[in-house]
Amino acid sequence: DQYDVVVVGSVNADLVVGVDRRPGPGETVLGSDLATHPGGKGANQAVAAARLGGRVGIVGRIGDDGHGALLRDALAGAGVDLAHLAVTPGPSGVALITVGPDGDNSIIVSPGANARLTPDDAAAARDMITAASVVTFQLEVPMPAIEAAARAAAPAGARVVLNLSPTAPVPDEVLALCDPLVINEHEAAWLLGGPGETAPEEMGRALLRSGPRSAVITLGADGVVVADADGTTHIPSPKVEAVDTTGAGDAFTAALCLRLARGDSLPDAARYATRVGAAAVRQPGAQTSYPTPEDLPT
Ligand code: RIB
Ligand code: NA
Repeated sequence: DQYDVVVVGSVNADLVVGVDRRPGPGETVLGSDLATHPGGKGANQAVAAARLGGRVGIVGRIGDDGHGALLRDALAGAGVDLAHLAVTPGPSGVALITVGPDGDNSIIVSPGANARLTPDDAAAARDMITAASVVTFQLEVPMPAIEAAARAAAPAGARVVLNLSPTAPVPDEVLALCDPLVINEHEAAWLLGGPGETAPEEMGRALLRSGPRSAVITLGADGVVVADADGTTHIPSPKVEAVDTTGAGDAFTAALCLRLARGDSLPDAARYATRVGAAAVRQPGAQTSYPTPEDLPT
C-alpha cells in the first residue's frame, strides 16, 4: 500500500488556557497566557503517525481564516500528504481548551470547516483511501462523510479503525467494520447504555457483542484493555508525569494504526501505542508533544 495510515477527520486550532479551576455559570476566573496550537483529533492522529515514521495522508477541511496556515504547516511539517485537505470559505475548526493543574483538560469544539466535510470529499479522495493499509476515523466530522469513506475503504482491503470521540451515534454498518473500535470507559458506557461501573474487561466483551470486530478500551494512566476473538488483555501504560493530556488518546490511536499497518497483532500494536500515548502527556499541547521513536519511554 502507498499509505500506512489515511486519516479522515478534523483539523482544529486549539486555543489553550491553563486554569486552577474551571468557572461555573456566571463566574469569571483568570487563567494563563493563551497558547494557540495545531490540533483536531484527525490532524493529531495524522501528525502522530507521521512523526513515528508512517506514510500518512489526511482527508479533511480547513477554513480560509487566519488559522489555516498554522494548521496546514503543522501537517506539512510532519510530512502528511495534503492532496485531500480542502479549503472551505469561513472559519476553521477551533477547540477552546482549559488545562487544569493535573494536566487534565476540558474541550469545547466549534467544528467550522470540519462540518462541511461531505461524502463527495470522500469520493474525491477515493484513490488515497483505497491505497491505505489502515483508514482511521474520529467523530468530529459529519457521519455521512465517514460512512462514505468507510464504505470505500473496506472492499479495498483497508483496515478500518474508529475512535468513538466525541460520542455520537454510529450506524451498525460502520460499527461492524471497526477493527478495532477505540473508545474510553465513559464513551463505552455511553455506547453500551449501561452503568459506568462495569469492569473494563466485561465492557470489552459487551462491545464485541455490539458489533465491532475488535475493541480497545483506553483507561488513561491505567493503560488499555484489548478485546478481540482471542479474549481480553489488559496492557498497562508506562508511568510518566502528566503535564497536559490533551491529544494523548489521538497519539495512542495513531500509533496503534501505524503498527497494525506494519503487521503487528492488536495486543502488540496496543503495547507500543501506550508508550506513545504516555510520551504525549509529558509536554504541553497535542501535536507539539508527539514523540519520534527515539523519544519513547520504555
Ligand atoms: O483530542 C484532542 C483534540 O480534541 C484537540 O486537539 C482538539 O482540537 C479536539 O479536537
Ligand atoms: Na501533551
